[in-house]
Amino acid sequence: MERLKPQRLDKLIASTGKWTRREVRELVRRGRVTVDGQPARSAEDKADPETASILVDGQPLGYRRYTWLMLNKPAGVLSATEDGRGKTVLDLLPQELRRQGLFPVGRLDKDTEGLLLLTNEGGLAHALLSPKRHVDKVYYARAAGRLAEADRRALAAGLTLEDGLVCLPARLEILTSGETSEVLITLREGKFHQVKRMLAARGAPVLYLERVRMGSLELDRSLPRGAFRFLTEEEMEKLRTLV
Ligand code: URA
Repeated sequence: MERLKPQRLDKLIASTGKWTRREVRELVRRGRVTVDGQPARSAEDKADPETASILVDGQPLGYRRYTWLMLNKPAGVLSATEDGRGKTVLDLLPQELRRQGLFPVGRLDKDTEGLLLLTNEGGLAHALLSPKRHVDKVYYARAAGRLAEADRRALAAGLTLEDGLVCLPARLEILTSGETSEVLITLREGKFHQVKRMLAARGAPVLYLERVRMGSLELDRSLPRGAFRFLTEEEMEKLRTLV
């Protein structure tokens, strides 16, 4: 892998999202940062994060070349990096992370909630999204209409929508069925408004939609709506094995 250029400590340490640059300067001033065993003299000192031992309060920094975040997306924000028309998922992140060139891995509609990954690792992100990989995406939906066994079978066979879109076979698990139904739906592709269009085609327009899983990654229920966390090493390993 290509070597990284040495980077300023304030930039480097703040990129972990645990401290702001200003806080890093204070940490350095207080002698709480060491580089290869020596207290850092200035936050402007440069170090190679992949070869130097950088410790804060004696703890390794946990630097990663790429950032991967799990966001619990709330309704009302766009899965985009910039948009003149409104708030985007990037607006939910602290400034240090907004500076890192993060982008959403795929899109959720403005009113859809739940699991959204953000990263600046283009290669892996695109591999995960590639139609060839068929990474499972699981959604919880509440829909206005009675969904039943016939709908499960129709989705399993692969729906053809009004506009001619032929959907891959999808799994429908019916949690409750009545005037409104609750379901889990698993797709292996991600066409525009796909869940909404599929359930509407079965006479059950979506009232509420939440993504609960992507590949091996489950939405972390301890994350409040609008909150994010870094993926763990274990989660990163699992993602890499998917592609
Ligand atoms: N399907 C939809 O209709 N909307 C989403 O946001 C995701 C999948």
